[in-house]
This record gives sequence, structure tokens and C-alpha cells, in this order.
Amino acid sequence: MKYKSLQLPVLALCLSLITSGVFAQNSFKPQKDVLATIKKNFADGDVQYKYMAKQFIDGQFPKTYHPDKDKFETSNSSWWCSGFYSGSLLKLYQETKDAALLTEANHNLKGLEKEQFNKGTHDLGFMMYCSFGTANRVEPKPEYNEILINSAKSLSTRFNPTVGCIRSWNSKPEDFLVIIDNMMNLELLFNATKLTGDSSFYKIAVTHANTTIKNHYRPDFSSYHVINYDAQTGAVKEKKTAQGFANESAWARGQSWGLYGFVVMYRETKDKKYLDQAKGIAHFLLSNPNLPADKIPYWDYNATNIPNALRDASAASIMASALLELCRYVDKKDGQEYFNVAQTIIKNLSTPQYKADLNTNGGFILKHSVGHFPAGTEIDVPLTYADYYFIEAMQRYKAFAK
Ligand code: GLY
Repeated sequence: MKYKSLQLPVLALCLSLITSGVFAQNSFKPQKDVLATIKKNFADGDVQYKYMAKQFIDGQFPKTYHPDKDKFETSNSSWWCSGFYSGSLLKLYQETKDAALLTEANHNLKGLEKEQFNKGTHDLGFMMYCSFGTANRVEPKPEYNEILINSAKSLSTRFNPTVGCIRSWNSKPEDFLVIIDNMMNLELLFNATKLTGDSSFYKIAVTHANTTIKNHYRPDFSSYHVINYDAQTGAVKEKKTAQGFANESAWARGQSWGLYGFVVMYRETKDKKYLDQAKGIAHFLLSNPNLPADKIPYWDYNATNIPNALRDASAASIMASALLELCRYVDKKDGQEYFNVAQTIIKNLSTPQYKADLNTNGGFILKHSVGHFPAGTEIDVPLTYADYYFIEAMQRYKAFAK
């Protein structure tokens, strides 16, 4: 009798958890032609990245290629994008099993190792987790664990408990600049807690995300790019942009970073507040009248010259990858919408409009991203992270076929 009386409430609780997404693990049906396109993209990516490896001298890190000048541009290991090259090689290796890609990745990782002690940047998540985090899944090694833990320790030194955030860009000591991109560095911290059992990394990530919801987001779930806090009191001094069109605009890549970041927050904590945040951001993006029908965003959702504004393939790749995870956590109807949009992005990035011919484009897979429009740098060029998240999105899509 007692047992029976418990059945209804337990059933109701389970149903409500399922509909709220806590236990949801949706599955959607990938299209055969898209899976075939993805298979070809991985094979072509293999050719491209071996071509790219010949474009620069040993010890450097790919940054971009300027088609107008036929010029390949590199950086040193401290540039925020230094982890994407090895990360892309490793992801392509997972798909093609071409040992040449693994050899090149392992060689490049050697030059990146020293960044584990870099306390001068907040970008260690991008730099070290996309590279060594991926390497640790491909070929797990104790030395990778150590590098990842040291990287998380270095990143944690930039956390200010009064502000409740990790400092992004260095600035005058009284200022404390935090950019929305910083949400992407939190996955490294969650990983460090798993590797060490030390919850302090996890707590920093949660505090940073909560402060970001409070101060970076507008009521419509669009995000500011930069918040300047008072480093002593934590008060918000300014809300502005650096890479977007205007302080009040929605810079496209920043919106994608935020979406991806809050999907990770939900995955790692299972706190519904982060799921709601990710769904709110997805709604802002997918219902935006300035999102084109092909779902490849303009570089800023409020750029003045829409429909002639430049597109940003990187914002599209990041959004597709995030949506292909988020669709698993929500109800079937929203999930199907997210899946369909990601599928449309993958299809369109795979057309000659965005996907480079073999042995061109400096070896990058995708063309047409926008790095920093206001600064006049990396405009309408390939970018390492556009490729990285495109490959990841295709892996996530393919996973639905299993
Ligand atoms: N600041 C990183 C980016 O350009 O997305």
C-alpha cells in the first residue's frame, strides 16, 4: 500500500525531469546525404591539413591565410588560437586514422606545452583543452593530465572572488575586463576537478558563469562582449564591445561562444538554470530576423549593411556544434529545431561557397570568417577555430547515426 502510494508522485517527478531536460537524451535521424558529405569533408580535411603543415616553418602555429596576398600567417604558442591546429589534426585523425596527422599533432603539441604555466592569458581553455584535452582522449597519457592540471591552476590565478570572474584581458589594475569568450575556458576547469578531485576549479567555473549571466546578458538573451568591473568592489563600470559593431549590438561570435559555454555548464553541473540560459540564447539566435536563411550569421547581428554584411563561418561552426549537444537535453520539438539548424549549417559550410578547394586556402577547410572587424584584422579569411568547431560539429552530427 505504502509502495503503491509512492508510485504516482515518483512517476510525476520523472516525467517533469524528462520534460525539463534533466534526463532527456534525444536522438535525431541524420540524413544519409549529409553523412556522406561529412565523410568526404573529413577525407578532404586530411588532405588540407597535410598541405597546411607544409605552409609554415617548424615551431610556429597557423593563424590564417590571406587569399588576396597568397600569404600564410602564423603566431607563436602564446596566441589564443595556438591549440586549434593540433586539436583539428587530432579530430581529423579520429575520423581518418591517418597516422601522418597524429605525428604532426604530437610534434606541434611539444611546442605548446610551455603555455601550461602562462598566467598572462585567460585563453588557456582554448589553447590547452582543445589541444591536450583532445590528445588525452585520443591517446591518454599521465603527462597530458599534468599539463591540463597545471593549465587550470594557471587560469585560476586570474580569478577574483570579489568580482566573481576570471580576468580576461590585462588592463589598468583598477579595471577588470571580462569578455563573453571567457565562457569557453571553463571546460578546462571542470576537467581539472575530474582529474584531481579538487572542487575549487569547479567552483570558480560556476561562479564565473553565474556572474556572466547576471552582467553580460540582456533581457533578450543577447550578450555584451566586454564588461569592465571595478577590481576592488566588483561593481560593473562599463558594458561595451571590442570586436562587435557597437556596444549595444550582438557580435555574432560572442553569441556563439556564450551558447556553447552554457551548454557545457549544463552538461557539467546539470543545473537547469544553465539549460534555460542556453535555450534563451538559442531562441535569440534562431528567431533573429537578421539570421539568414542559410543560417550562416553575419559577423554582427546588428551590422549596418545587412544583407551585404560579411558572414562569419566561425560563428556558424561554433553555433552548430553547440546546438548538436543542446538538442540532446531539451524537449523533442526544440531539439529537432536545433538539430535541423545545425544540419543546415553543416550542409551550407560544405558547399564551394564556404569550403575551400583542395590544396588552396592555405590548407584551411573553411573560407569566410571574420576575426576582428573594428580593428581591420582577419576580415573574410579562414580561421583555425572555424575549422576546429566545424570538424567537431560534424563529429557530433555523425554520432547520431550510431
Ligand atoms: N576573442 C576571441 C575571438 O575573437 O573570438
